[in-house]
Amino acid sequence: MKHINKLFTALGITLLTACAQKPSENVQVSPLMQNEDKITDLISRMTLEEKVNMLHGKHMFSSAGVERLGIADVKYADGPFGIREEMEPHSWNSIGLTTDSATFFPTGSALAATWSEDMAYQYGMGMAKEARLRGKDMILGPAINIQRLPTGGRTYEYLSEDPILSAALAVQYTLGAQDNGAAVCLKHYALNNQENDRGSIDVKVSPRAMREIYLPPFEAAVKEADAYGVMAAYNKVEGYWCSENGMLLNEILRDEWGFHGMVISDWGGVHNTVNAAMNGMDVEMPGDRYFGQALLDSVKAGVVPESVIDSKVRNILRVRLAVKAVPEEEANKMMTSQPEQQQIAYNVASKSIVLLKNQNELLPIQTDKYKKIAVIGDNAVREQALGGVGAGVKTLYEVTPLEGLLKQLSGTDAQVEWAQGYRAFSKHERETRVSPYTKADPKLMSEAVQLAKNSDLVIFVAGDNREVETEGSDRKAITLPMGQDELLKALAAANPNIVTVLVTGGPLDLRVVDQASPAILVSWFNGTEGGNALADVLLGKISPSGKLPFTFPIRLEDSPAYSLKVYPQDERQKQDDIFVNLVDEKETDQKSGPTADYAEGIFVGYRWYDTKHVPVQYPFGHGLSYTTFNYSDLQVKADNEKLYVELNLSNTGKRSGEEVVQIYVSRPDSKIERPLKELKGFQRVALQADESKSVKIEIPLEKLRHWDEAANDWKLEPGAVEVQAGGSSQDIKLNQTIDIK
Ligand code: GLC
Repeated sequence: MKHINKLFTALGITLLTACAQKPSENVQVSPLMQNEDKITDLISRMTLEEKVNMLHGKHMFSSAGVERLGIADVKYADGPFGIREEMEPHSWNSIGLTTDSATFFPTGSALAATWSEDMAYQYGMGMAKEARLRGKDMILGPAINIQRLPTGGRTYEYLSEDPILSAALAVQYTLGAQDNGAAVCLKHYALNNQENDRGSIDVKVSPRAMREIYLPPFEAAVKEADAYGVMAAYNKVEGYWCSENGMLLNEILRDEWGFHGMVISDWGGVHNTVNAAMNGMDVEMPGDRYFGQALLDSVKAGVVPESVIDSKVRNILRVRLAVKAVPEEEANKMMTSQPEQQQIAYNVASKSIVLLKNQNELLPIQTDKYKKIAVIGDNAVREQALGGVGAGVKTLYEVTPLEGLLKQLSGTDAQVEWAQGYRAFSKHERETRVSPYTKADPKLMSEAVQLAKNSDLVIFVAGDNREVETEGSDRKAITLPMGQDELLKALAAANPNIVTVLVTGGPLDLRVVDQASPAILVSWFNGTEGGNALADVLLGKISPSGKLPFTFPIRLEDSPAYSLKVYPQDERQKQDDIFVNLVDEKETDQKSGPTADYAEGIFVGYRWYDTKHVPVQYPFGHGLSYTTFNYSDLQVKADNEKLYVELNLSNTGKRSGEEVVQIYVSRPDSKIERPLKELKGFQRVALQADESKSVKIEIPLEKLRHWDEAANDWKLEPGAVEVQAGGSSQDIKLNQTIDIK
């Protein structure tokens, strides 16, 4: 890849977006651009020291303003799915407020499983409202990197393996948050797709894969939602740290996409004063190791021109003046988590649950038929809010699966009994590097089997937890941890009526589960209201309507990077079952780390399995309902701007339900290498029993473009376009081919 890491000289500085730009009269002016004159005046009144003082951490989660000029500090708040508790100014310790318990929203992959732009908007709105109660200006989220690896430590935080789905939800989360008073900070820009060696890994990626797969969620949230903040990732791309990557931060983000907001580093992600200052970094977080005295000295020495400092201050003031500062005395005056947001958490959770399988319509549970219900598994009682370092949420409450069931079944004659079945993998075990992939616990297993024997129905709540999936290290496997497969076989031998509920954020190896369990649900790390949503689905109050945002491969080795043997990079990672915790705070100081070779190119997720004809356990976009849907009357038209897809969707079952209509596109006579099909549009549709609706989906032709590496630009290839409509990437119901010019 042609990489221009701009080496500026003190003389010939081409300032990018530095000078005040006057918006033209008739376009909607971004809130970021409505104060240019005022910003010019403020900058003119600042000393150099005041300016530089704005460019680095003041506290762990704030950067300074200029009190003398009435410019408030900028206050940041983790995490993508819940506003983090108040931390001490200079440590990772909580200060123990009593009002900062927040709503724990379903995590990223759960939100993505709703395939609902409306849910994403509400989600961003809910996060912003709670950020404001906490006096915060910028949410450190959404986390929108593509899930390249089934074992990626932050798969649960991120959204999807598909750029169109991720982009659509990133846009709405951003709009929802910024329409409600808080800035977002899109993270982690860019190509942070693994946690192992995250602080030193150097990503080698084709320009086409970068443009078509990894950048679109960031591009869409900037161009379509006017995101105010971007967080540079820890890793390198093509040899340059993201925190000083002129191609990513200046050429693409600012010059090409027109980003006018501020770029902050990931915590500890800056490595060099001049390189970061001259290649697009605005704020070093936390601390001032590179952008404190060192930067001041660099300006005074004439290495970094003051005009570059002014440009950074302008970016920060654009955000500062677009987001109303909350006076200290008004923050944390009421409990952060409020009923309005708890309802949003429920709405998202209830639409996220994916029904993978439902043999003999075991679900919804008929409590008149199954009176003695065994609930088995530590995940039935385990809360998932905490864990995952920056993404942990001190939540006001969390309804666990067991609590949700007990609440829904109270007053009925169903008898519910719980057995732990397996131990939870704990933080202590992670820190002592014990593998989660241990054998079943014989005592716990025998108690669970005994209960299963004496019950009419078993609900096996399996999966992993926030210690298995976390930032800082990738999973070693997608096997169900703590010997759950062994336990499930024993349970199935005792009672074949087993519903398996998977509490997980990423894909799992379901070969045993699929054999042993006639019904399987994915219920995610599903937030404060997750247990209520799960009970409502299990007992039929609502129909499941989630769709998988990523593929469940049959085995990990079938997935692209494993199949091509370009991941894991580290010998330590290849030892069987050793859960290597690679979180090493000094790792971000490593100057050279392993190379991540994105050899699969654009063939990520279903693009790989489909095109290489690799069978999967459950495909991208899959999800069943308690009712059935019929697709008919597909019509596809095109003009020189869009494809216009229209079809009729009917609910042919006996109960209401929601379907996500998915539109994929193939290019049968393309002259270039392409995936077999690619998602290009989707729409969630609610239908009462026997109801039909006309579904209309418009696809801008620019979404059909590919990145032409020779031209270093997007290209729209004319020719046949096969439009396919269905309920998953492998459940195409209708198709029609149309020619585009
Ligand atoms: C972390 C994470 C980032 C988080 C930041 C602050 O290491 O990578 O997502 O926002 O630090 O906690």
